[in-house]
Amino acid sequence: MSADVFEKCFGFHAVDDLKQTGFYPYFHRVESEQGPEIIVDGSKKIVVCSNNYLGLANHPKVIESSILAAKNYGTSCTGSRFLNGTNDLHEKVERKFAKFVGKEDAILFTTGHHSNLGAISCLVGKSEVVVTDRLDHASIIDGCRLSFGEMVRFRHNDMKDLKRQLARYKGKGILIVVDGVFSMEGDITNLPEISKLAKKYGARLFVDEAHSLGVLGEKGTGTGEYFNMQDDVDVVMATASKSLASIGGFIASNSKVINYIKHNARSMIFTASLPPACVGAIDAALDLIVAEPERRAKLMQMASKMKKEFKAMGYNVNNSQSPIIPLTVGNDLVAFKMWRMLFDEGIFASPVVTPAVPEGQSIIRTSYMSTHTDNHLDFILDKFKKVGKHLGVIA
Ligand SMILES: Cc1ncc(COP(=O)(O)O)c(C=O)c1O
Repeated sequence: MSADVFEKCFGFHAVDDLKQTGFYPYFHRVESEQGPEIIVDGSKKIVVCSNNYLGLANHPKVIESSILAAKNYGTSCTGSRFLNGTNDLHEKVERKFAKFVGKEDAILFTTGHHSNLGAISCLVGKSEVVVTDRLDHASIIDGCRLSFGEMVRFRHNDMKDLKRQLARYKGKGILIVVDGVFSMEGDITNLPEISKLAKKYGARLFVDEAHSLGVLGEKGTGTGEYFNMQDDVDVVMATASKSLASIGGFIASNSKVINYIKHNARSMIFTASLPPACVGAIDAALDLIVAEPERRAKLMQMASKMKKEFKAMGYNVNNSQSPIIPLTVGNDLVAFKMWRMLFDEGIFASPVVTPAVPEGQSIIRTSYMSTHTDNHLDFILDKFKKVGKHLGVIA
């Protein structure tokens, strides 16, 4: 008898087993807009797992701009950017984004994932090398896998290891790709050292600013601005699904590089372009990031308050340097139980378990938005204290 590719599906019981325990934390139904308070499965929760860092996902100006775009351009572009799917709104936000991050040109993909997939895979050719941080986002890994080059990983933010890897491939075309802020860990890439090494070994530097755009730097441009070295970043990637309150992904660089990506990135050429309503939202959100820096300042103040309070309670906040604060809680079961207890106490959080983290080091990833109030933060702290103590995560 021949093998059946469905066999693995029929034998896939882990999720059903977890559901039986009542600890299954995924695919819960949000029945409201995405703010600091949401309705999940019929009841109100305070959110600590959103990437809506600046709270723009329900801002009236963003909604208005999105509606206007749909009214003017319809609901879909019905095709690829390459063919019939480019409109003047796409080009407007590309110019705006390029100017914002200080690059010559930019291109807008349909998602952040598509941006990494398309840009990395077409920039790294046969006999070239892509060097990534071991904790880079999955979309970066996917982009590397789709390229014809060799993929090499260095230990997380370990500059000695990066140097060792670069030395191995000296003389080859090399692209270094790092997250600006690491999505699960909340720490910042060591851009000054990476840039030094990139120059020494003639490598190009690509920074994924998914969690740093709108958040880091005085203007909110991201990691490059934070270290005052934006010119040293050859390619800036950012997703529109976090601070930009929409969906979509940007790649910005010099115009020759963008022109090449535009004509070679398969995830741009072979997928339909971003719908007008989403582009309209990005347009307004980019203006608000520039016009309202106080959102960023408040976000960073809140993040440092939360870090201080969690530490005082006895939580391990790891090396968080951003509004992403991961709390190490123990094994997967503890993380699932903690998620459930927090949920029952009115908190919507995210557990991160193996294989995304090493065995025994599962986390509850918390993240903040500038629209959380002091009352929200106190409520969150109170519940984490209660549940953490109950489970023996803190003393
Ligand atoms: C670091 C990083 N890069 C890329 C992406 C992909 O972005 P999107 O969700 O817009 O596809 C994400 C999203 O989670 C991310 O965290």
